[in-house]
Amino acid sequence: MITVVGMDGSALSTQAEAALAAATLVVGARRHLTAAGALAPALATRGAQQTPGRPRGAEVIVLAELAPGLDALARHEGDAVLLASGDPGFFGIVRVLRERGLDAVVLPAVSSVALAFARAGLAWDDAMVVSAHGRDPRPAVNVCRAHPKVAVLTGPGCGPAEVGAALEGWDRRLVVAEDLGGEDERLTECSPAGATRRTWADPNVVLVLAGSPGPGKVLNADERQVHHEQRRPRAAAGTGGPAGAGAGWLAGGHRAPGGWALPEEEFDSRDAVMTKGEVRALALARLGPGPGMLVWDVGAGSGSVGIECARFGAAVIAVERDAMRCARVRGNATRHGVDVRIVPGDAPQALARLPDPDAAFVGGGGPEVVAAVAARQPARIVVALAAVERASLAGAALAAAGYATDGALVQAARFAPLPGGAHRLAAINPVFLVWGWLPGTTEGTGPGEHAGAGDHAGAGDHAGAGDHAGAGDDFGAGNHAGHAHPGTGHGGPR
Ligand SMILES: C[S@@+](CC[C@H](N)C(=O)[O-])C[C@H]1O[C@@H](n2cnc3c(N)ncnc32)[C@H](O)[C@@H]1O
Repeated sequence: MITVVGMDGSALSTQAEAALAAATLVVGARRHLTAAGALAPALATRGAQQTPGRPRGAEVIVLAELAPGLDALARHEGDAVLLASGDPGFFGIVRVLRERGLDAVVLPAVSSVALAFARAGLAWDDAMVVSAHGRDPRPAVNVCRAHPKVAVLTGPGCGPAEVGAALEGWDRRLVVAEDLGGEDERLTECSPAGATRRTWADPNVVLVLAGSPGPGKVLNADERQVHHEQRRPRAAAGTGGPAGAGAGWLAGGHRAPGGWALPEEEFDSRDAVMTKGEVRALALARLGPGPGMLVWDVGAGSGSVGIECARFGAAVIAVERDAMRCARVRGNATRHGVDVRIVPGDAPQALARLPDPDAAFVGGGGPEVVAAVAARQPARIVVALAAVERASLAGAALAAAGYATDGALVQAARFAPLPGGAHRLAAINPVFLVWGWLPGTTEGTGPGEHAGAGDHAGAGDHAGAGDHAGAGDDFGAGNHAGHAHPGTGHGGPR
């Protein structure tokens, strides 16, 4: 029988001590073996004098690499103990054991994530927990960009400094918890930039919280008051779930949105440049936003597309040249309880220093904008265009950058009330959506799996798009009171 014993710096439980005493094989990292007393010189030799309660004559394997230790556990015929950190069932060794078909009794200690939040004096049932250990850190970092309370399990190549560097430009503070439960335990609150300027002791866990930090500070138990419950509580972003359930009934910081392709009334867009709900529905489907993704909304206007992506859990950067509209994006994001980074400025120049996106929506900007976005090779790009001639050019620009492309003319007519309870149809302006996906990069219900909507985009090398109300890529033009039945101009999708 294998017993997995979690360790968090506190004394081992009686059950764990008994498992160790009975074990004929003990496997673990050096620091765990030392803490458990299994590496005392007397113990490494079979049959030598034992500390009471420690394994008599047990074989001890110091884990440098996982595979040999797991092989030894699989071969071993007596009782074995595997020492691991914290709760081994939470981002830990239990998954690996199960994948190898090995059964185990698990004796958990407190997870490093729980300890970090406890030391910081914060509740964490609303936190997201991500691992950057031994994997591409981009999804983990994107979760930190999107959510106000995230714990990052760090690893080689993605420690506090790397997490801090990736959060440059986002309003975040880091709480770095080093050597939790150990003699050198330390909690430090710092800015993302501050995290890049120093070296950190392993092992560590990073809490990434919304809001800017106070002055750099090493925390101890007496200084916990410098932490406040998140300064900008997440509002209604995750409205999925039973009505009135509120927070605190389901762990984790992200819910599926309660709805999408929201009516235009859900966004402040005084100058009528908003992408209509029906168009947004298809655009969102092709973008496939979700946790771990970074989405660019280029030519964001009211921010409706980016904000809806953020409601799905993606990190979002909204690029918008018009300062008033930037302010509106901020207001709309706040209204929907999501965190959207707003980059004021003209694309493509404004795109140059941004982190690469996983998906991008181009709602404004000329041919050079589509080309510049495609050059960054997000897996999925959706371009919205009002002008007939420009649709094929957008498709060609995507194809030239290596994308498989498709597109559709989205044409909807909404119910508009007539006297006596009847309805007529009020058309909204047709809009071309042209989308591209990188072959081999689609996942789940990504754009590569769509059901053949519309015609293929034709040749050409750019997608043109104006940006002003009433023309060009102002897809909202003509859909307002002047074209709709009086009093129904802004009726959104039901
Ligand atoms: C049709 S609107 C986008 C509507 C938006 N998707 C929404 O739902 O509100 C186009 C927007 O792109 C912006 N824009 C156009 N060209 C741009 C460029 N090169 N760089 C940045 N923003 C641009 C315009 O200011 C305008 O707000």
